[in-house]
Amino acid sequence: MIELDQVSIRLQDRIVLDDISVSISEHRIGVIGDNGSGKSTFARLLNGLIVPDSGFVKVQDLDTRNDGKEIRSRVGFLFQNPDNQIVMPTVAEELELGLKPLKLKVADRARRVEEALERFSLTHLADRSAHLLSGGEKQLVALAGVMVTEPEILVCDEPTTLLDRRNATHVMRLIAELSCQVIVITHHFEHLHDFDRVLVIANGKITNDGPAKLTIRQYMETLT
Ligand SMILES: Nc1ncnc2c1ncn2[C@@H]1O[C@H](COP(=O)(O)OP(=O)(O)OP(=O)(O)O)[C@@H](O)[C@H]1O
Ligand SMILES: [Mg+2]
Repeated sequence: MIELDQVSIRLQDRIVLDDISVSISEHRIGVIGDNGSGKSTFARLLNGLIVPDSGFVKVQDLDTRNDGKEIRSRVGFLFQNPDNQIVMPTVAEELELGLKPLKLKVADRARRVEEALERFSLTHLADRSAHLLSGGEKQLVALAGVMVTEPEILVCDEPTTLLDRRNATHVMRLIAELSCQVIVITHHFEHLHDFDRVLVIANGKITNDGPAKLTIRQYMETLT
């Protein structure tokens, strides 16, 4: 359960999010809207990467202002740009990184990494330099690195933008299979059709909020 109460964010004297109040308890939630509308800023609020200038954000009753570290251990976050996510030299090391705080036995950690590599069809890239991969390969590694930690809530900021159609479908299927709460920001609306709820953000406000197909259709109508 995530709760935003009268949340505003101002960046360099511009209001980027404007008095947003919303409770999110559904299993799968999509967030859509124009470029620059505030979606990534909204996403970053959800795991305390940024805190509101006014109002508050609560995740499972923890306040992002006071409990950022604990919240980040529960909320997995996929950055829009995988270069902002990947920090380790090789793909396998990147996947291992997220598991370190879990203090697993060495063999269990290796098994989890191996399974994640397989699930994301990345086994052949395990020892490759993560920074030299293609954009789509990096996006897969970044997502695998988040999912391997089995977060309680997963926030994905445009998880499929760099992927080919096969990998995009594969990744969205993996996301759909997760039992944890998932929040996906995307311009690829076809991936959201069976989501429980879709929020539309425009000019820093939630301007529509409802069942996926209806909300997406209404957003599309504003484009013509
Ligand atoms: N650190 C920052 N400093 C100043 N302005 C910022 C900062 N981060 C974002 N903004 C501005 O806030 C607005 C919302 O940005 P945000 O990245 O949340 O949009 P978005 O909806 O995710 O867009 P896109 O679909 O292009 O990813 C934009 O106008 C952006 O220029
Ligand atoms: Mg964005």
